[in-house]
Amino acid sequence: MYSELVMDHFSNPRNVGTIADADGVGTVGNPVCGDLMKIFIKVKDEHIEDIKFQTFGCGAAIATSSMVTEMVKGKTLEEAEAVSNKAVAEALGGLPPQKMHCSNLAADGVHEAIKDYRSKVAGKVE
Ligand code: FES
Repeated sequence: MYSELVMDHFSNPRNVGTIADADGVGTVGNPVCGDLMKIFIKVKDEHIEDIKFQTFGCGAAIATSSMVTEMVKGKTLEEAEAVSNKAVAEALGGLPPQKMHCSNLAADGVHEAIKDYRSKVAGKVE
């Protein structure tokens, strides 16, 4: 029912944790099930230098969180913003239909963290 990649990222999630001095933090909740994801990013020269996640959710949510951190680490903010939830699910070899909603959090969490970073930068400039 789950691809090997999903099982791999669930059993051995990458980039789990928090970043104390994060430049941006994104928190998103899944309206379908109430699960929560938090993404922390460090930004340098418009690139995601480091990224960590904390997910209070199901195995599919943990796997998508783990995968999205790998997909955007080292990328520019613009490249990270272009990653969609669907792309994350596809990178994992797909999710069972009843678990597709679990991929709603992954890229959204990254996008929220970037938004948070950009608003902080804008605040500093003003
Ligand atoms: Fe909530 Fe999967 S059941 S994210």
